[in-house]
Amino acid sequence: MPHLYESRKRILVTGGAGFLGSHLIDRLLAAGHEVICVDNLFTGTKRNIEHLHDHPRFEFTRHDVCFPLYVEVDEIYNLACPASPIHYQHDPVQTTKTSVHGAINMLGLAKRLRCRILQASTSEVYGDPEVHPQREDYWGRVNPIGPRSCYDEGKRCAETLFFDYHRQHGLPIKVARIFNTYGPRMHPADGRVVSNFIVQALQGEPITIYGDGSQTRSFCYVDDLIEGLIGLMASADGFTGPVNIGNPDEFTIKELADKVVGLIPTNAGIVRKPLPQDDPRHRRPDISLAREKLEWNPTVSLDEGLIPTIEHFRGIAAPQRGDLRPSTNGGSTRWANRH
Ligand SMILES: NC(=O)c1ccc[n+]([C@@H]2O[C@H](COP(=O)([O-])OP(=O)(O)OC[C@H]3O[C@@H](n4cnc5c(N)ncnc54)[C@H](O)[C@@H]3O)[C@@H](O)[C@H]2O)c1
Repeated sequence: MPHLYESRKRILVTGGAGFLGSHLIDRLLAAGHEVICVDNLFTGTKRNIEHLHDHPRFEFTRHDVCFPLYVEVDEIYNLACPASPIHYQHDPVQTTKTSVHGAINMLGLAKRLRCRILQASTSEVYGDPEVHPQREDYWGRVNPIGPRSCYDEGKRCAETLFFDYHRQHGLPIKVARIFNTYGPRMHPADGRVVSNFIVQALQGEPITIYGDGSQTRSFCYVDDLIEGLIGLMASADGFTGPVNIGNPDEFTIKELADKVVGLIPTNAGIVRKPLPQDDPRHRRPDISLAREKLEWNPTVSLDEGLIPTIEHFRGIAAPQRGDLRPSTNGGSTRWANRH
């Protein structure tokens, strides 16, 4: 994309050392913007942004969004939050704090700067849905007291805060409900199904299927997702969302396992384990609103997207489960990343 100096913005990305945040930053820098990446490295890693170390328009600040932040920017993408169940259940109180206090702090900053702010919300706000596929006007079916609630309810509360800042203070907000996304730089031990299957196949371990494998998921390739987020930030003034961003192609977990085994032949077979509590049976976005308002459509098929994702995992020393260990840093617990 050609860069015009007048259109250069200074953009804050919270959670920028994470999987999605680091891809978003790459795209924003390529478009000629300045980027401030704020991250406490709880699940993110410097490795995701090390290629930007000497970039003249990139800055990294180690900071926890639960505390106020004072920077001058033109736009804010609020992505800071552990996203996989293994990570967000490790310290559930901190997870809710990150969603809620983080939203309050970033909204306060946006209010002072009168700037656009985008929230990385999630399909988890729909909980274990009774309607399928999920549209944005579906209010969800969420357990408020279960092990996933710290994330689901934290994200729901963050959405509430975004809309109250919009109604009460006229803040220009954008809320994206992100569905399962995969691609290079996923954390190899985040326990999510795509990374699980790939790491297990690469290590010659049996692939673990929870339940009978007939539960369905849809998988969005990271480049498509980032395109959707940038399109949402640039969308018309009055458009706030929430808007689903995800790939509506639906696969059973067994189908995903077969695809991975097709690309990484292994004789180790499949082991079955019981379904975790509150695990949704079906998850598929209705993306009519994104198609209409953002003219956005995912373009990368699962077969295409799995190839660079597998290459990414081949290129790192994939840790065993036991290597995903909590460690303390400045009073807050974080995951030690070997990569
Ligand atoms: N990846 C997906 O499929 C998916 C789906 C739905 C929603 N999302 C949302 O998108 C965002 C990014 O997800 P991701 O997959 O890149 O996860 P990730 O764990 O790779 O990235 C999250 C980043 O936030 C940082 N972080 C966590 N707590 C923080 C805090 N208190 N202060 C500052 N930084 C903090 C982490 O260190 C990490 O770098 C999250 O908000 C997540 O809820 C992701």
